[in-house]
Amino acid sequence: MIIFSSSTTDTEKAGAELAKKLKPRDFVALYGDLGVGKTAFVRGAASVLCPDAAVCSPTYAIVNRYGGDVTVYHFDLYRINDEDDLYSTGFFDMIEEDAIFFCEWCEKCPGAIPDNAIKVFISRQGDGRRIEIADTLA
Ligand SMILES: Nc1ncnc2c1ncn2[C@@H]1O[C@H](COP(=O)(O)OP(=O)(O)OP(=O)(O)O)[C@@H](O)[C@H]1O
Ligand SMILES: [Mg+2]
Repeated sequence: MIIFSSSTTDTEKAGAELAKKLKPRDFVALYGDLGVGKTAFVRGAASVLCPDAAVCSPTYAIVNRYGGDVTVYHFDLYRINDEDDLYSTGFFDMIEEDAIFFCEWCEKCPGAIPDNAIKVFISRQGDGRRIEIADTLA
């Protein structure tokens, strides 16, 4: 599915629409350049899954955990160089939990992304964004 987003709000709405179809153990892998709107997409998704969470970019923390009806993990691999780095963060233990996962910068560590991940590719297109969701749900 391809969505054109002409505003941050549109991108948040796209995240919210996907979130309605998610269930525990789903892993949403986000791809796209700096500042393209990955965190905005996750914020929209979290507004459905855990409305009380304050979503911010876990660029330095690597992971944020939001509580709601379902636990949501929000990863950002921007500062991860390889799978060894990622092991030390507990990523591989966390992704075994009964939670829903969003992961920014999956380009950084392709080998760590589950095979059945729902892939979201965001790119700039004119003044807006092209959002491609490659999965069997959408
Ligand atoms: N159509 C759009 N969709 C999403 N964000 C947009 C759009 N148009 C402008 N923006 C702006 O682009 C920026 C996107 O920031 P955001 O933190 O979501 O990106 P990101 O991909 O997570 O960045 P990073 O690579 O640093 O993690 C925001 O400042 C937002 O307001
Ligand atoms: Mg981000």
